[in-house]
Amino acid sequence: MKLSKEEKEYLEGKHGNAAKKAMEILVALGKIYSAKRLITVDSVQISGVSYHTIGDAGLELLEDLAKDGKIKVPLTTLNPAGIDIENWQCLGIDKNFAEKQQRILSAFKKIGVIVSCTCTPYLIGNIPKYGSHIAWSESSAVCFANSIIGARTNRESGLSSLASAITGKTPDYGLHIEKNRKPKYLVEVKANLTDITDFGALGKIIGEKIGGEIPLIRGISDADLDELKSLCASIATFGGTALFHIKDLTPEKVKAPKKKLYITSADIEKAKNSFFDTNEYDFIAIGCPHASITEIQQIASALDGKMVKKEFWVFCARPVKKISDLMGYTEVIEKAGARFACDTCMAVAPLKGRFNGMITNSAKACFYGRGSNNFKVRLATLEECIKVALN
Ligand code: F3S
Repeated sequence: MKLSKEEKEYLEGKHGNAAKKAMEILVALGKIYSAKRLITVDSVQISGVSYHTIGDAGLELLEDLAKDGKIKVPLTTLNPAGIDIENWQCLGIDKNFAEKQQRILSAFKKIGVIVSCTCTPYLIGNIPKYGSHIAWSESSAVCFANSIIGARTNRESGLSSLASAITGKTPDYGLHIEKNRKPKYLVEVKANLTDITDFGALGKIIGEKIGGEIPLIRGISDADLDELKSLCASIATFGGTALFHIKDLTPEKVKAPKKKLYITSADIEKAKNSFFDTNEYDFIAIGCPHASITEIQQIASALDGKMVKKEFWVFCARPVKKISDLMGYTEVIEKAGARFACDTCMAVAPLKGRFNGMITNSAKACFYGRGSNNFKVRLATLEECIKVALN
C-alpha cells in the first residue's frame, strides 16, 4: 500500500502513540483487503461503546489511547452505550456497571469524540454528503449511510472506526470503490408495505435469502424515514449487507441484475409471524433503531391522558429527547408512566433477566431480544404495542 509522507510519519510515531497505533490498525486492514492507498474520511461513527460489549479490556485500551489520542475528524459520534447517561439509576442499572460505562465515555470525550450515543447519527447532525467517504461501524447506520444517503463506508469495527477518527483516513477498498456498489440480485416486491414492521420483515427475508450481497429492490413506491431505517436495521442484521438500492427511491442509479427474487404479501406475513413467541409481555420496547421525533410524537399522541400498565421504554438519542422535551411530548409520555432510555438500547444495556416477554415494532430488536437477552418476543405495530401497554 502506498503511503503519503504524513501517513508514514504517523507510523513512525511522530504524531503520538495513539495516532501510531491507529495508523498501524488501518495499514494492517488495508493489507488484508489489498487496498492500494488510504483515503480521507469526513465523518465517523464508532460502535463498541457499551461496557456490556467491550468489558474491562476495551476500557483499558480506550484509556490508553486517550493518553495522547485526539480525533482528526470533528464529525465523530458514538453508538449507544450501556446506560442512559443522565438517568441510569431510574432504569435499574448496577452502580459498578454505570461507573465503568462513565469511564469509557470519559475516555472517548478526552479523545474529542462527540459523546452523543446513538445508532441514528443521521438524526442528530452527523449527516455525510452524497458520495463522501466515511468510516461508520453500526450495521444499521452503515446501511443507511450507504443506501439512503449515498455516502461510502465499509462496515467498520469499533476499533477501525476509532482509528479513522484519530487519523482521518480509511483504506480504499470494498464499498469505497464504485464498481463494488453494483447490485447482484433484483428483488421484486409484490406486496403492499404499509408499516415499519412490514419493512422489518422485508429486510429479514432479503437478508436471509441473499446474505451479504447487494440487492436492487423494485416495487416500493414510497417509504418514510422511519420505514427506511427499519429496513436498514433488518437487512443488515439478518444478512449482513451494508448496501441496497431501491428503484426510484435511493440516490445511486444502477442497472438491474439478472438474478431475481420475488417477495409476496404471504412472505411478509410469514416473516412477521416468525416473531410471535408469546402473548404475555412485561416489556414494551420502541426505538430500534433509535426513535425519531416523529415516532415520539406518535407515542405521545397515543398515550395522552392514559396510563401504561407495563414497562414501556422509548430508546432514542439524547438530542432527539431534547426536542421531545421542547415540544412537551416527554411530559405526556412520562405522565402516562412510560420512560425514556436515551444513549442506550435494548441490545447493549444489561437487561438480561430483567424481563420475560418483549413486544416491539422492530425486527432487529426481536433478533437481539431473543439472542442476547433470552426474551420471548413479538413483532407488532406501534398501535398494537400501545394497546398491549394500556391493557
Ligand atoms: Fe440501534 Fe441497538 Fe437497535 S444499536 S439498531 S437500538 S439494537
